[in-house]
Amino acid sequence: MDMGSSITAYDLPERVASYDADMEIMHPNRAKMVEIALQVLPFAPDSTVSALDLGAGTGYFTERFLLRYPVANIIAIDGAEAMVELAKTRLGALAGKVDFRIGDFRRLGRLVANAEEFDVVYSSYALHHMNRADKLEVIKQALELVKTGGWFLNADLIGAERPEIEKRIQEIRVEGIVERARGKDARFADATSTRAFLDELEASEGDQPLSLLEDLQVLTEAGLQKPAVFWKEFREAVTGGMK
Ligand SMILES: C[S@@+](CC[C@H](N)C(=O)[O-])C[C@H]1O[C@@H](n2cnc3c(N)ncnc32)[C@H](O)[C@@H]1O
Repeated sequence: MDMGSSITAYDLPERVASYDADMEIMHPNRAKMVEIALQVLPFAPDSTVSALDLGAGTGYFTERFLLRYPVANIIAIDGAEAMVELAKTRLGALAGKVDFRIGDFRRLGRLVANAEEFDVVYSSYALHHMNRADKLEVIKQALELVKTGGWFLNADLIGAERPEIEKRIQEIRVEGIVERARGKDARFADATSTRAFLDELEASEGDQPLSLLEDLQVLTEAGLQKPAVFWKEFREAVTGGMK
């Protein structure tokens, strides 16, 4: 992801498409995970659900949310202005229904100071960029903003508990990426180039996924009683629950 550079209007749609193409290769479960999170929500499709997207990025989850809940009120936060531009491009006419706020979600209170409580706070592939302490604080603040009976849902990366298992899961991950790229992308030509690309990407983005057990512990400490795992495969999970 190129979050820092300025973006000229003409190439915005191409950038959304190329971001999605990369996500399809690197995280083919994203659509499934977002679908599962949406399925968990019990609200009627025509209800004016109020929601907060933490780390909206190019707006994939928020778009899916609006397609399911067309009259939802959504605040979407992201720290990168360039990503918000991509999200607006993806959403097109739907963008007008979203209140985008650019800023660090570690300052959540300030970013949503004037907002009412939310029916749901959701996030995809964003919270693993934080260390445990920050993640706990952000989720704690987020839960304070959720109505009693509302939901917190996170579709995100996790690490394995044991290094041997992590190593095997990483091998499976790299094999999958090379296979899906089908020799059409130099970054993913083989296992070596793919590993090098992923290592560089993860270092630049400051990835620090916790294990599933640690994530559940963080959710519990943040105030979510008996958090649930709605879906899991290898190094990705949908977790959360009802406040
Ligand atoms: C990998 S992208 C995922 C975006 C999107 N939710 C998706 O599923 O495609 C992670 C996003 O989180 C944002 N992000 C990471 N840390 C952040 C922080 N502390 N405050 C605000 N946004 C943050 C990044 O700018 C980026 O757009």
